[in-house]
Amino acid sequence: MTTQIDIDRVAARIADLRQKLEYHNYLYYVKDSPEISDAEYDRMFRELLELETAHPELASPDSPTQRVGGEPLERFNKVQHHAPMLSLANAFSEEELRAFNKRVSGLLERDDVAYVTELKIDGLAIALTYQNGSFVRGATRGNGIIGEDVTANLKTVKQIPLKLKGGGERIPEIEVRGEVYLPLSTFNALNEERADKGLALFANPRNAAAGAIRQLDPKMTAARPLSFFGYAIGYIEGGELQSQKETLESLQEWGFPVNTNFRWHDSIGGVISFCSGWEPKRESLDYEIDGVVVKVDDLEDQRVLGTVSRDPRWAIAYKFPGQVATTKLKEIGVNVGRTGSMNPYAVLEPVKLGGVTIKLATLHNEDDIRRKDIRVGDMVVVKRAGDVIPQVVGPVLEQRTGKEKVFKYPDKCPSCGKPVVHEEGEAMAYCVNRECPAQIFEGLNHFISRGAMDIRGLGPSTVFKLLELGFIRNAADLYSLSEEQLAELPGFKDKSIKNLQSAIEDSKKRPFENVLFALGIRHIGEGVAALLTEAFHDLDGLMNASEEDISGIMGIGPRIAHSVYEYFNDPQNRELVESLRHAGLKMEREKRAIKTGPLVGKSFIITGKLETMPRSAAEKWIEERGGTVLSSVSKKLDYLVVGEDPGSKLAKARKLGVTEITEKKLFALADE
Ligand code: IVH
Repeated sequence: MTTQIDIDRVAARIADLRQKLEYHNYLYYVKDSPEISDAEYDRMFRELLELETAHPELASPDSPTQRVGGEPLERFNKVQHHAPMLSLANAFSEEELRAFNKRVSGLLERDDVAYVTELKIDGLAIALTYQNGSFVRGATRGNGIIGEDVTANLKTVKQIPLKLKGGGERIPEIEVRGEVYLPLSTFNALNEERADKGLALFANPRNAAAGAIRQLDPKMTAARPLSFFGYAIGYIEGGELQSQKETLESLQEWGFPVNTNFRWHDSIGGVISFCSGWEPKRESLDYEIDGVVVKVDDLEDQRVLGTVSRDPRWAIAYKFPGQVATTKLKEIGVNVGRTGSMNPYAVLEPVKLGGVTIKLATLHNEDDIRRKDIRVGDMVVVKRAGDVIPQVVGPVLEQRTGKEKVFKYPDKCPSCGKPVVHEEGEAMAYCVNRECPAQIFEGLNHFISRGAMDIRGLGPSTVFKLLELGFIRNAADLYSLSEEQLAELPGFKDKSIKNLQSAIEDSKKRPFENVLFALGIRHIGEGVAALLTEAFHDLDGLMNASEEDISGIMGIGPRIAHSVYEYFNDPQNRELVESLRHAGLKMEREKRAIKTGPLVGKSFIITGKLETMPRSAAEKWIEERGGTVLSSVSKKLDYLVVGEDPGSKLAKARKLGVTEITEKKLFALADE
C-alpha cells in the first residue's frame, strides 16, 4: 500500500529532479558551460520520467519531460497579444540614424538621449507568457495583434526556460518577447542531411525556422533544433523596470538567453560606430543578423514617444546593405503569377552568397530590366537581403564584351499564348486571360497554401493532375470532388483519399480572413485581408462596399481599394465566391465570444457625429453590450443611430424603413 508519506517523498524527489534538470539545461543551453556529463543528465531525466509515469497525478506541464513534444495538433489556436507586437521603421545610412536621433530629441525636448543597440537577429518574433514563474503559453507574432498558440513547439526549444529563476518566479504574470532562430551550423547540417535524402533544401535559416515553428507535430519542431534570444517585455504585472538595459539584465537573471552583444550609448555617435562596426563582423556569428536595432533606453521616454501606425517612434532598425556577389546571367525566363503578372527571373551561373548557393534571382519587372539595362550574358551583381528571394542589382558594365543580348519581353503569355497587357502606370505586364492555365494553376496553389485554406495533402503536383484530368476548373470545384475522381489520381489509395477528403472538409473551418486571402485578389496579402475582415465583418459588407468605403480603412490605400472593388464587381468572381459560400466556406468574421448583454440580437449602424463619444467608442460600447455593428445598411439592420450631419446611410435606411434612433435612445435601449 502506498502511504501519504511515500507520495510526499516521491513528490519531493520529482520537484528536486525537475529543478536540477532545468538548472543543468540552463547551464548547457544558455550559459554554454555544463557542470555535469550528458550521461548524468540522462540518468536524472530517466528517473524523473519513470516517477512521472508511475505517478500520473504528479504530472506537470512545466516539467522538463514535457519538452519532447506531445500529440500533434489539429490546428493552432489564436491568441491575442497583451499589447501589439510592433514592427520597425528602417534606417539605411548614418544620415538616417542622425535624423532619427533628431526626431527623438525634438519630441523629448532634450539632447542627451541614451540608446541601447542590439543585433537584429533574422529569425521570428515570439511572445512567451509566464504565470507565477511557469511557462504557460508561447505565440507567434501573427499579424501583430493576434498570433498562433505554438506552446508545444516552443517547449522543444531548450533555451526557453520552463521555469523562471532569480526572482522571476515571483512575478504573477509576464510576457517576454524575443526571437527564435536557427543557428547557421544547424541550418547547414540540416540542409546537408536533406541533400543526402534528395529533399528540397531550405532557402535560408529564417524560412527553416518559420517552418519548424508552425509544425502541427511538435516532434517535427524538435527535429530542427531552434535557439532563442529574449529582448523585450510585452507586459509585466506588478513590476517596474526603468530602462531597456535593465530589461535585458533582468531577462538574463530570470534565465533567458540574451544576446550579449548589446551596448549602451550616451549619444547617437556611439550608436553609429556600433552599427558600422558590426557590418564586417557579422560573418563571424553562428546566426544571421540583418542589422542593428536601436532603442531609446529610458522606458518612460519610450512611452512618451509612442507609436505611429505599427512602428514605434522610439526604435529603428539599421539595416546592413545585403550580401552581394557577381556572376553570369545565363538566361532570362518569365513565369506567370497567380494574378497574371509576368514575372521575369534570372538564371545564373551558380554562386555562393552568405553560405547559400544561388542559381536563380528575381528581376522584378520589365521596367526594372530596361532601366538598369540588364542584358542576357551580362556579368551581374546579385544581392541577398534577409529572407527575400535573391535579386539582380544590375550589370557590371566594365565587363561587357559586346556579345550580350538585349532581352525582349515576350508579347505573348508563355503559358496561354494570349497577348500580354502592360498598362500605363503599372510596372508589371500582365496576362489578362483568366482562362490562362498558368494563372489558374498558380491561383489554386495559392488557394490551398498555408495562410490561405491550408489544405494539407494537396500539393502542386496533385493540383496539376486534377486540372489535367478536367476534374477542377476553379477553387470551388475542389469541394465537389468525388471519391471516384480522387481514386484516379496516381498513388491515391483508400487512406490517402480519406485524408485528402478530410483535409478539404477541414478547410471549411478556416476563418473568413483566410478565405479572403485565398481568393488571390491582386495586392491583398494576409495583413490586408485581416484589416478588411475587421472592417467589413462579412462578405456581403465587403462586396457592397464602395471604393471610398474601402480606402477609408486605416492601412488601406487607393491601389488596394481599387483592386478589391474591381474584384467584387466582376460577375465571374462573384460567381466563384458564391460557389465557395455554397460549398460551406466561412464568409463572415468569427464571433469573438458568446455574446451577452442587453443588446444581444440587435444590430446597429451609427451615422454622423455623436455628442458624448467618438463613433469608434460607441461601436465598441454597443459590442460590449452584446449588440452587433453592421457595415452596410440593409433590411437586416435593426437600428440606425443618427448623430449630427448624418451621411448617405440615413437616406438608404429611410428607403428601407429601418428604425432611426438618437444617441439618447441608444443608451436607453441598453437600460431596458
Ligand atoms: S525589438 C518595436 N529587438 O525585428 C520593437 N526586434 O522589424 C520591435 N528583431 O519583429 C522588436 N532582433 O522579429 C527587437 N533585438 C531585437 C530584434 C528584433 C530581431 C526582429 C523582430 C521584430 C523585427 C522588427
